[in-house]
Amino acid sequence: MKIKKHLYPIMIIVSVLYILYVTYMNLFYDPQATSFLRHKINLQRPLHIPIWLNVMYIHVIFACLAMLAGAINFSKHTQRKFRKFHRMNGYLYVISVCMVDITSGYMAPFSTAGKINSIAFNAVNMIWLAMTIMALVYIKRKQPVKHRHWMVRSYAFCFTNLFIHLFTFILHNGTGLPYELSYTIGVYGAIFTNLVLAEIVIRYIMTNAVNQQEESTA
Ligand code: HEM
Repeated sequence: MKIKKHLYPIMIIVSVLYILYVTYMNLFYDPQATSFLRHKINLQRPLHIPIWLNVMYIHVIFACLAMLAGAINFSKHTQRKFRKFHRMNGYLYVISVCMVDITSGYMAPFSTAGKINSIAFNAVNMIWLAMTIMALVYIKRKQPVKHRHWMVRSYAFCFTNLFIHLFTFILHNGTGLPYELSYTIGVYGAIFTNLVLAEIVIRYIMTNAVNQQEESTA
């Protein structure tokens, strides 16, 4: 019961803290991404670092925008009282997802640990876009419950980077696994966690009674 009440504030706090952390680390503290790039040791193709860095900056900015826009739009207050803002902010979320996907498409072939992670990132590119489009299609068809469910599934992918680094840190620093292996488990672990967390939120945390009522009056 309590988790239902506190989930939204917790999500807002985690998102805002992570946005501040990612922005500070990647745009100010280590703008050359030296600590991340030093692990790229066996790349199949040459990496043009200035281009990669600029793409990464755009990636980070739109990733943070997606995180912020999505978090705001889950607010029941915004959904009810500021419908026009909710709609415009929703389009900002969709555009941001597209920009993260495009930039990810450039970076994926140069992924740390190579092809195994390139494949995973490209798969996420397609899955994430598909989930976001599903959310859009359902609201156009005036099915708010399904819209919300697909938005939860889509929004979970905003935490991809957080989970990758969390898993990598625990495995590499905590258990001493090699960095590349830790990162690979981090990438696949993050995808799995995103998918499972979204289903838990949809099945056990979103209130079905309210959902069904809204669906019938839509
Ligand atoms: C929305 C939240 C996200 C944030 C804040 C974020 C942030 C970052 C950052 C800071 C990097 C630079 C390397 C690092 O320090 O990790 C990065 C790399 C990357 N991101 Fe994201 N990202 C997000 C979501 C995604 C998603 C959903 C995808 C896939 C569609 C993606 C694909 C990539 C790829 C392919 C790289 C390069 C990885 C590598 O070189 O090994 N990111 N991201």
